[in-house]
Amino acid sequence: MLAVEAVQVYKLYKGSTYAALNNVSVDVEPGQIFTLLGRNGAGKTTFVRICATQLAPTRGIVRVLGYDILKEAGKIRNLISVVPQESRPLRALTPWDHVYNWLQIRGESRYDAKKKTEKILYKLELYEAKDTPAMNLSGGMKQKILVAMAMATDAQLLFLDEPTIGLDPVSRRQVWSAIKDWKNEGKSILLTTHYMDEAEMLSDSIIIIDKGRVIADGTMRDLRKIIPQNIRIDIAKDSMDIELLKSYGSVVDTGTGTLRVFTFESTVKEISDFAIKKNLSFTVSPITLDDVFVSLVGNNTPDKEDDHRNTSLNYDNGN
Ligand SMILES: Nc1ncnc2c1ncn2[C@@H]1O[C@H](COP(=O)(O)OP(=O)(O)O)[C@@H](O)[C@H]1O
Ligand SMILES: [Mg+2]
Repeated sequence: MLAVEAVQVYKLYKGSTYAALNNVSVDVEPGQIFTLLGRNGAGKTTFVRICATQLAPTRGIVRVLGYDILKEAGKIRNLISVVPQESRPLRALTPWDHVYNWLQIRGESRYDAKKKTEKILYKLELYEAKDTPAMNLSGGMKQKILVAMAMATDAQLLFLDEPTIGLDPVSRRQVWSAIKDWKNEGKSILLTTHYMDEAEMLSDSIIIIDKGRVIADGTMRDLRKIIPQNIRIDIAKDSMDIELLKSYGSVVDTGTGTLRVFTFESTVKEISDFAIKKNLSFTVSPITLDDVFVSLVGNNTPDKEDDHRNTSLNYDNGN
């Protein structure tokens, strides 16, 4: 049985002129971390809300853990856990209150609720702040409270809608680690992100969506094949050299003063010799999901202010 089986899901919001989801089909295998990767407005939250039985599709069939989202929503709700995008913990309540009360609401005994609350607060490094009202915690800590609530449960399937937005790098890694632990318990995750490093770090399977349409899907290995080369060289721009670089592979102007060459290991030495001779700075790195994404949806970022990390599509490669 699939964790999520979505067939030709189409969603047109009332008053909207274009579909937020345009015939999206997805199979999430149980025990997998399945990632929807896309920029803002791609349709990720719409898809999650439909699967989590919070929103009805205009057309299409979705089954979650074997149950139909329209006819058997109640059964699904007992088996899933959701971290919605952009929700906030209650100001006056502490991390402990949030997680412990949530588990009690879900029917856990006091003993189990206490054990599970302790465990997840430790894992996400919220334990020291367990008695601090949420209003006195940082944005990252607040976000971790929501993740802790969802992950403390015994749900079979966890929906994480952009769970690491606004998190500092250390908290991000704690959340990643908790996600991996969840998977290691044999449970399933549907994750959405617009951070490519996150998708790359965690996913067993990825779909890339843009403007409501699936534009690529597969494992990391599959997606990397979209760019046949395996090496990326960024080299300071010197317009005279584009033609020469093209003889080594495909060349993209990143618009940030560097040219990006997708190439093979066999030509790395030649290109670096050339760069050294011309005194041009350069970096050599393996091809990542970043590159795949850019080659599929282009280099323009619609929401620049939203993305300060080095995962930005207009990255400058300071690494
Ligand atoms: N309640 C709504 N009513 C009308 N349009 C909406 C609503 N929610 C989202 N949209 C639109 O649907 C598209 C997909 O949005 P969303 O699913 O939130 O994307 P993502 O989560 O990938 O950023 C966007 O164009 C967005 O403006
Ligand atoms: Mg969203």
